[in-house]
Amino acid sequence: MYSNAERVDDLVRGTVRPLRLFPDAILKRACMDVNVFDKELEQLLNDLIETMISLPRCVGLAAPQIGESKRVVVVDVSRNPRVVERHHGLICMVNPRISFSAGSMITREGCASVPEFTANVRRSQHVVASYCDAFGVEQVLEASGFEAVAVQHEIDHLDGTLFVDRVSVSDVFRRKTK
Ligand code: CO
Repeated sequence: MYSNAERVDDLVRGTVRPLRLFPDAILKRACMDVNVFDKELEQLLNDLIETMISLPRCVGLAAPQIGESKRVVVVDVSRNPRVVERHHGLICMVNPRISFSAGSMITREGCASVPEFTANVRRSQHVVASYCDAFGVEQVLEASGFEAVAVQHEIDHLDGTLFVDRVSVSDVFRRKTK
């Protein structure tokens, strides 16, 4: 699963980009499918990776969070040391969609674009996602637990949905530390 990321990384150097924060309108818009798999896409993926790495404990980022309304996300739950279950490390997903989901779990979620709050969010415990890699090759990912939650959270961003949209006010908490 690392091969995809390593190949992307070799081609174009990523840069840390400014984060779009709630209530920026780009976070509420549905994103466009990617049809061209070119250097520009590789740059976007590497910028997402670089920006994710710059944020402590950040386990995923979606393109609209760095100002591009395109269906592109990166996920890497290995960045959270508490995640001990089986996972896939760094995953780069273009035009991802959930093709199967099962089970239910509640996790405390946060988001780099909503830095003030966390919330208890109910999501599927297992998902199968289909997506294209950076080169337009179709891939399938099976994820469970925390990784499945991260994948669902990032794909939500592509439809203009934030984690706070999925809960009632009583399930939202203000962060104690910055
Ligand atoms: Co988020």
